[in-house]
Amino acid sequence: MRLSRQGPSLFVQTPAKLNIFLDVVGRRQDGFHDLETLMVSVGLYDSLRFSPAADGQLTLKSHSLSLQIPPPPEGPRNLVLKAARLLQQESGTDRGAEITLWKRIPSEAGMGGGSSDAAATLVALNEFWNLQMPASQLHDLAAQLGSDVNFFLDSHPAAVCTGRGEMATPLRLGKPGCFVVVKPADGLSTPAVFSVLGLKPGEGGPSPSRDPLPERLCRLRGEMIRNDLQTAARSLSPAVERCLDELQRLHPAGTGLTGSGSACFALCRSVREARHVAGRCRQRRLGQVWVLMTGT
Ligand code: C5P
Repeated sequence: MRLSRQGPSLFVQTPAKLNIFLDVVGRRQDGFHDLETLMVSVGLYDSLRFSPAADGQLTLKSHSLSLQIPPPPEGPRNLVLKAARLLQQESGTDRGAEITLWKRIPSEAGMGGGSSDAAATLVALNEFWNLQMPASQLHDLAAQLGSDVNFFLDSHPAAVCTGRGEMATPLRLGKPGCFVVVKPADGLSTPAVFSVLGLKPGEGGPSPSRDPLPERLCRLRGEMIRNDLQTAARSLSPAVERCLDELQRLHPAGTGLTGSGSACFALCRSVREARHVAGRCRQRRLGQVWVLMTGT
């Protein structure tokens, strides 16, 4: 995430993520699922601007920067406002903010857009309101907002995330990864995809034996790509099914689903290969298509 001052305002750019692998370890007593997942941030960014407002007032205006993305909700359901309220309550500040959000990251895609916006809001308002809240406290708030928010908080290029997904251990990527990401027109709801697994509290996940977690320095390889939610997402969405099948036919280094979908991706061996794969995906009208590199 990148922060910059613009006169009295603070401007933030915050990235999307992809899940290279996602293992569902089992279902917990609280209904959530324990996960082991390798997340990488990629170069598609939402932008947020925080400007001064009358005491305590919080407002949000949101705009979509893509014809395919409907304007995000501006009401209290938006994670940006939830994050801002939570920070106000926890810090006891009487400051307010006028927030503007420009969306490029699609929702219901498994790309972490809402979580990334929430993390950016916590980091930016901590600075904008001069709260000096320690990172550990920001992490507690992040975990209350959603399972993926913690990953974005520290701007890791890559991390292995465990627990609900909120415990992020950073790792370094030996070499940047190059992806083609395709988001079919239909989105997928995360709870709906998890519920297809049909796990009861206390029950283990679908893959009893899991590969060892990657070392601190990791090189992305096609064989690493796997996702225990993929069969469920395929069963809920013919568009995901088609997208994954078409990507595989183009023989990139690997293909997979990110998070609970509906976005799918191909890991490519070069930018040249990625441009070729992206061109084919556009020709076949699979959905919105980007060539994206991992963050640094
Ligand atoms: O934490 P987040 O708000 O992203 O989760 C949305 C929903 O996805 C949860 O309410 C839950 O149904 C499901 N979920 C889960 N286990 C996780 C993460 C999400 O069951 N680790």
